[in-house]
Amino acid sequence: MNDFEHFITLDGSVGLYNSDFDDIYHSVDGALTEAYEKFVYPVNYELLMHKDNIKVLDICYGIGYNTKSFLNFLFFENKFKKKNLEKILHAIKGIVTIHTDNNQRKLNSHNDTIYTYNTLPKIYIKAVDNDEVLFSLSAFIKSSLKVKDHEILKHYYKNVDKKAKNISKKKIKKLINFLIFDKICQKSPEILKNNELFRLLSDKKYDYILSKDLKGILRYELNNRLKTDSKKQNIFNLHNIYYKYITKWYKWRMKTYNLQEIDFTPIVGNARDVIKLDKNIYNLIFLDAFTPSKCPCLWSYEFIKLLYDHLDEDGLLLTYSSAVSVRSAMLSAGFYIGYIYNKRLNKYVGTIASKNKNLIKYPLSEYDLGLLNTKAGIFYRDKNLNGLNEAIIALREKEVENSSKMSTSEYKKIYG
Ligand SMILES: C[S@@+](CC[C@H](N)C(=O)[O-])C[C@H]1O[C@@H](n2cnc3c(N)ncnc32)[C@H](O)[C@@H]1O
Repeated sequence: MNDFEHFITLDGSVGLYNSDFDDIYHSVDGALTEAYEKFVYPVNYELLMHKDNIKVLDICYGIGYNTKSFLNFLFFENKFKKKNLEKILHAIKGIVTIHTDNNQRKLNSHNDTIYTYNTLPKIYIKAVDNDEVLFSLSAFIKSSLKVKDHEILKHYYKNVDKKAKNISKKKIKKLINFLIFDKICQKSPEILKNNELFRLLSDKKYDYILSKDLKGILRYELNNRLKTDSKKQNIFNLHNIYYKYITKWYKWRMKTYNLQEIDFTPIVGNARDVIKLDKNIYNLIFLDAFTPSKCPCLWSYEFIKLLYDHLDEDGLLLTYSSAVSVRSAMLSAGFYIGYIYNKRLNKYVGTIASKNKNLIKYPLSEYDLGLLNTKAGIFYRDKNLNGLNEAIIALREKEVENSSKMSTSEYKKIYG
């Protein structure tokens, strides 16, 4: 990313734009809302909560909305948890009786099944992105800005349709940002040593989009560094500073919410290379790459097949993309596929894939299945998972040109 080109999305969260790709990283309707609606809400939590471990692969982590929303939902909003806390407290006080089943995983009180804190599955998240700066910034990004904070937002609000107006104003708890920062410090402190991060954190221009909480802890040191020789920026080490100033509040809250058990691994690299070497099997895969026409290497049949091999039998692959070529690659790789239904907008907004047919709540219509057999359904190929985007696009264009399949416009004319 050349510069930190950003805008404020409709729900008050920060969105980014990439001029190299000429593509936005986040929906203007709401970066955070999109993460919730496409990657968090469609997950089958009933199934997930019975597992000992939940493994998540966040492909194209960016500034981390998908991972952060998932954790925020699980630990601060999840119905299991909220209900639990009250009921467990009641039980402790002897108001309701709690029965523990054989394996100590579930507790029954009256007719409800509730889950206790110490029975929450252990969560592993592996996040991959090839942009180190975004990784390092992810813990600093504010998730909720007020309309008056930015002129552009006012403009967007004027033009927004009615449905977009009922976007709920979500906020990522600052504890999640602390957690991400802490894990980066532990697992990949080198990520924090880039000069670009230092530049962005110390530039007042970005103050309104960067959280004061973490910067507050680091402020003293940041100010000192600013006053000293700029060459010293090379040895700027947020990692040490953080540990020097980390608050008791943070440690205490981590324990209260059992967050210290979360295993978060940030990996800077090309998703294809990272996943090729990965031996894990995941319960959830978030695929949030730039659009297929801009970044086909992360939507090719071979890449989708690689994801198939890394997904559990009852796992889910979630993506915002509804592209016909992506869906046909998924189908050819062996997935059952369906729509992601957005309740707020009352429409389908992405694609969900699984090896288990029963987990597909909204299967594709006959019409959309038919589309997969047209020219639009010809997927990108990247035989050795190392092709350049331009070459992958050219290969597909040639295949489309030589194909005897029905053109998509003809199909739409006949069946549309
Ligand atoms: C649509 S944005 C993802 C937004 C992100 N999920 C978030 O919450 O901010 C696409 C991301 O893909 C990353 N990217 C592009 N090509 C990649 C590649 N080959 N491997 C890994 N990441 C890549 C970009 O750096 C960018 O952050």
